[in-house]
Amino acid sequence: MGSGYLWIKAFHIVFVASWFAGLFYLPRIFVNLALVPGDSHAERERLLLMARKLLRFTTLLAVPALVLGLVLWLGYGVGLGPGSGWMHVKLALVLLALAYHHACGRLLGRFERLGNRHGDRWYRVFNEVTVLLFAAIVVLVVVKPF
Ligand code: HEM
Repeated sequence: MGSGYLWIKAFHIVFVASWFAGLFYLPRIFVNLALVPGDSHAERERLLLMARKLLRFTTLLAVPALVLGLVLWLGYGVGLGPGSGWMHVKLALVLLALAYHHACGRLLGRFERLGNRHGDRWYRVFNEVTVLLFAAIVVLVVVKPF
C-alpha cells in the first residue's frame, strides 16, 4: 500500500480518537448540568460555556476523521469488494456515532433554553453508548471478523 496509506491511516486514528474524546466528555458535562441546583446561575453558565466550546471543537475534529476514513475506503479501496461485511457494519455504526453527536447538540440546546427533561442518571447511561460504539468500531476494523 505504500507509506502514504499508512500516514493517512495514522492521522485517521488520531482524529477519530480525538473526536470520540469529545463525545466521551460532553455527556459528563450534561450529568453535571442536570445536577446544578436551579439558583446556581454562575455554575450553570460556566458548564454551558464549557459544553458549547467542547461541542464546537468535537465537530471540527469529526471532519478530518471522516474525510481520511473515506480516503482510505474509496481512495485506496480498503473495505470495498467481497469480504467487506466489517466495513458495512462499521459504516452503520459511524452513522450512529454521527446521530449521537447530533443528539448532543440538541440536548445542549435544551439545557440552554432551560428545557432539559432528563436526570443525571439518564445522562450516565447515555454516556456509556459512546464507549460501546467505539469498542465495536475498533474491533470491526482491526479484527475484520466478516
Ligand atoms: C466515514 C467513516 C469511516 C470510514 C470510511 C473508515 C474507513 C477506514 C478504513 C478503510 C480503514 C483501513 C483499514 C485497514 O487498513 O485495514 C480504517 C482504519 C481504521 N479506522 Fe476507520 N473509518 C471511518 C470512521 C472510523 C471511526 C469513527 C473510527 C473509530 C471510532 C475508526 C477507527 C479506525 C481504526 C482504529 C483504524 C485502524 C485499523 C487498523 O490499522 O487495523 N474509523 N478506517
